[in-house]
Amino acid sequence: MSTWADFIQQNEDRDGVRLTWNVWPSTRIEAAKLVVPMAAMITPLKERPELPPAQYEPVLCGRSQCRAVLNPLCQVDYRSKSWICNFCYQRNTFPQHYAAISESNQPAELISHFSTIEYHLQRAALAPTIFLFVVDTCQDYEDLQPLKESLQMSLSLIPPNALVGLITFGRMVQLHELGCDGYSKCYVFRGTKDVSPKQLQEQLGLGGGGGSRAPAPAANPAGPAPGQVQNRFLQPLQNVDMNLTDLIGDIQRDPWTVQQGNRPLRATGVALSVAVSLLEATFPNAGARVMLFIGGPCTQGPGMIVGESLKDPIRSHHDLEKDACKYHKKACKHYDGLAKRAAENGHIIDIYSCALDQPGLNEMRYFSKYTGGYMVMGDSFNTSLFKQTFQKVFAKDAQNNHFRMGFNASLEVKCSKELKVNGIIGPCISLNKRSQNVSDNEIGVGGTAAWKIPGIDPSTSVAVFFEVCNQQAGNIPQGQPGAMQFITFYQHSSGQKRVRVTTIARHWADAATNLSHVSGGFDQETAAGVMARLAVQKSDIDDGPDVLRWLDRMLIRLCQKFGEYHKDDPSSFRFADNMSLYPQVYPTILTVLCMCMLLAFLQFMFHLRRSQFLQVFNCSPDESSYYRDKLNREDVTNSLIMIQPTLYSYSFNGVPEPVLLDSSSILPDRILLLDTFFLILIYHGETIDSWKKAGYQDLPDHENFRQLLQAPVEDAQVCNHLLIGLPNFLLNVY
Ligand SMILES: *[C@@H]1O[C@H](CO)[C@@H](O)[C@H](O)[C@H]1NC(C)=O
Ligand SMILES: *[C@@H]1O[C@H](CO)[C@@H](O)[C@H](O)[C@H]1NC(C)=O
Ligand SMILES: *[C@@H]1O[C@H](CO)[C@@H](O)[C@H](O)[C@H]1NC(C)=O
Ligand SMILES: *[C@@H]1O[C@H](CO)[C@@H](O)[C@H](O)[C@H]1NC(C)=O
Ligand SMILES: *[C@@H]1O[C@H](CO)[C@@H](O)[C@H](O)[C@H]1NC(C)=O
Ligand SMILES: *[C@@H]1O[C@H](CO)[C@@H](O)[C@H](O)[C@H]1NC(C)=O
Ligand SMILES: [Zn+2]
Repeated sequence: MSTWADFIQQNEDRDGVRLTWNVWPSTRIEAAKLVVPMAAMITPLKERPELPPAQYEPVLCGRSQCRAVLNPLCQVDYRSKSWICNFCYQRNTFPQHYAAISESNQPAELISHFSTIEYHLQRAALAPTIFLFVVDTCQDYEDLQPLKESLQMSLSLIPPNALVGLITFGRMVQLHELGCDGYSKCYVFRGTKDVSPKQLQEQLGLGGGGGSRAPAPAANPAGPAPGQVQNRFLQPLQNVDMNLTDLIGDIQRDPWTVQQGNRPLRATGVALSVAVSLLEATFPNAGARVMLFIGGPCTQGPGMIVGESLKDPIRSHHDLEKDACKYHKKACKHYDGLAKRAAENGHIIDIYSCALDQPGLNEMRYFSKYTGGYMVMGDSFNTSLFKQTFQKVFAKDAQNNHFRMGFNASLEVKCSKELKVNGIIGPCISLNKRSQNVSDNEIGVGGTAAWKIPGIDPSTSVAVFFEVCNQQAGNIPQGQPGAMQFITFYQHSSGQKRVRVTTIARHWADAATNLSHVSGGFDQETAAGVMARLAVQKSDIDDGPDVLRWLDRMLIRLCQKFGEYHKDDPSSFRFADNMSLYPQVYPTILTVLCMCMLLAFLQFMFHLRRSQFLQVFNCSPDESSYYRDKLNREDVTNSLIMIQPTLYSYSFNGVPEPVLLDSSSILPDRILLLDTFFLILIYHGETIDSWKKAGYQDLPDHENFRQLLQAPVEDAQVCNHLLIGLPNFLLNVY
């Protein structure tokens, strides 16, 4: 390890974890003074193709309140075949089958290189995955036809043993029975009235108890075993492939005529209610993905967000601020309730919306917030944008040809006794698991040490907040490590149950006497990502100005803390000539601010302040929800691109290099690539442009120029953060 930057990078690569502070302040008081909270940004299923799996079960600490997993930080006594838990100091004896271990024959989980390890549980039954399509039929042929083709295409990507189902809706909701007996049948529900889970079960003759707790059928507590459970509505794809393809092909536009000046009546709220209740009754706790495709807002029944008449405009940010929306609160309540029930049962709900008007993503944001489902926003289903995005949902990994999506995950956090967990900001719900290590001071989803993340993929990232609860610096010898453990259970798309365990350690230092040591380990990028999540989460509750004031207060306190610290050291004062690049809003602070890393952090915060995440001008409520959802689930690198777009310069003078986001970066002989995460722009300088117009790239002796033109286009296409939710992906060449 040479520098902090290398250390941070290596740890992220190995463990998928980055911390705001890499040297931990040893007392509560000193930690609070640091302003930026102690937090970990973690990507639980970060892709690690080279990581050999452990084909056995993890060994747990025997103390019932602890249950931490054996890890490289544990002290091992090979003679007595016992180990001491590094979290609770309990001595545990190794299980029988570890009898052969010795210093020279260590199991992988004790080797420091395996601070992250994945166990593949062999004993658990394979569970099939479930895909339930919910399709809005109030769409024109131009959208419905390509959507049907995309759905049919997806059937060729879904594994044959997966269970599939179909719900269509317009004014009414149709639940299709996938019989193999030669004729199709469907159950019709009125779009104006909610269907309770109990009613649905009775009407359809499904087993199960009903109610939101949804007790599983007694014989089947852990979801379906292969070949065991199926019902008329969710059938193995291999049995109904042809029939379902035909059924999708036969989907027609909703037959009810729409009066001039009206919106079509669209019963999205009831359709989702039927979908959630069906899965809840038949496959609680099983990996299931509901895929909702909508072409406009819900206009009737529960979950309605706008009236039928086009004279009623859909709510704006202004209406929301004035609290003047007739339907907003009720709709939120409906979708919030449904999303919670789905998440509690481990079910994911994706929203694919292609509409010119707002389809109500703001009210439906709970689905991605609680279930980890994707939220995709586009203009039309007949765009390569939608088609590519949809295909990427079904992308497979290179090694084993399995989907990259994981199901029914849960994340548990353990920590040293000097720490407590405040909560998580990210797509999840609480599993209400209280312990001594859980703080009363909640941040995000708090009050628990375990969370459920129904939908998780290799890029899903959550911010976990901690507080130091140690009172006296003397309690912890300086330089001694503290630890955190992250345990992620999930259902792999192959149906196998897996557990990923990451254990990390960092040193303590007394910030009162050794502040430079603590501040040296500050990771400004993670801090910016974490603060952005905090701000966005606040803006979901408070209105804009309050959040901005909060952010400003934080920054001022931060600057005071670190500005004062260097006050006695004149050499650390710097009035750089490039100060004009930094936030104009904090001129006075800037004169005292000296540490470069803080400048970078401040710059991120400045961009965040102006970004679409916090500013709602020129943004509809749906767009705000969409942007915020993305910020809430991406890792540090991607969050930073969203907050502060990156600009790369391509020229004949060497490899592409990052340049300042400033008009001074525009030069005649340069090509610029601007990456805002949501949008990629390529800009040709004047000279480049004129050469291009003259067609130099087509001349054999100007191969160099052709390559120069091509390079940014290729880079734009491989940008991996466009994996999902790239609705606004554009390639504009000027
Ligand atoms: C939880 O906190 C208790 C008491 O503070 C401590 O003894 C224990 O090690 C902690 N356990 C875990 C798993 O974090
Ligand atoms: C979809 O778009 C393509 C190209 O823009 C067009 O040729 C085609 O007719 C459209 N399909 C439908 C069903 O409108
Ligand atoms: C379903 O498939 C079977 C056999 O492939 C066929 O006989 C039957 O007509 C199909 N049913 C529907 C509703 O298309
Ligand atoms: C889904 O997760 C829950 C814990 O949240 C677990 O109890 C259940 O066994 C899991 N289901 C399957 C099929 O793995
Ligand atoms: C600061 O912390 C480091 C490492 O923890 C330690 O080596 C050093 O002695 C400490 N300095 C002071 C003044 O306490
Ligand atoms: C600003 O100026 C300082 C010193 O003059 C220099 O070290 C630093 O790299 C510059 N920063 C940027 C972003 O240009
Ligand atoms: Zn323990």
